[in-house]
Amino acid sequence: MTELEKLRESCLGCERCELCRTRTNVVFGVGPEDADVMFIGEGPGEHEDLQGEPFVGRGGKLLDDMLELIDLDRSKVYIANMVKCRPPKNRDPLPSEQEACEPWLERQIELIEPKVIVCLGRIAAMRFIKPDFKITREHGQWFERDGRRVMALYHPAALLRDPNKRPDTFEDLKRIQAAIKEI
Ligand code: URA
Repeated sequence: MTELEKLRESCLGCERCELCRTRTNVVFGVGPEDADVMFIGEGPGEHEDLQGEPFVGRGGKLLDDMLELIDLDRSKVYIANMVKCRPPKNRDPLPSEQEACEPWLERQIELIEPKVIVCLGRIAAMRFIKPDFKITREHGQWFERDGRRVMALYHPAALLRDPNKRPDTFEDLKRIQAAIKEI
């Protein structure tokens, strides 16, 4: 068993916050253990909770299309979430839940060692890049975190709600593609 598989096994039994009482499945993350690029969402929704996989609902279909635009697919990137269990009724994860869950994600990053990290949406960016992150102003900009390049995109759910945001996201994706070419 690899270290990441061992981590997944422990995470599946996690009871560090109250979300363990209402979840169907822990959504640990999927993708190659040596992925150069990692995507981080907010937390599982209903479909993800039922299937135990990140981004499998409508937003997930859009994420797949976004990946395809820059010659990526799920076999090439690692996809995880800030919190591994579904918040009831898809509310935002509480700061205490995010804090309790964070060590799982940090260890995933240590083991996978991605060179590029892409936060999907404001919640992941505020936790992962900086607390006052403004998604409308700062999406598509590169930040640095522990020697890795980090960018935030609009969340796929936001792109479904507001298609006017899609051209900006297309530009952001091209910047990610250019960074990957430099790896
Ligand atoms: N939204 C997220 O942020 N993550 C998922 O896995 C699904 C929807």
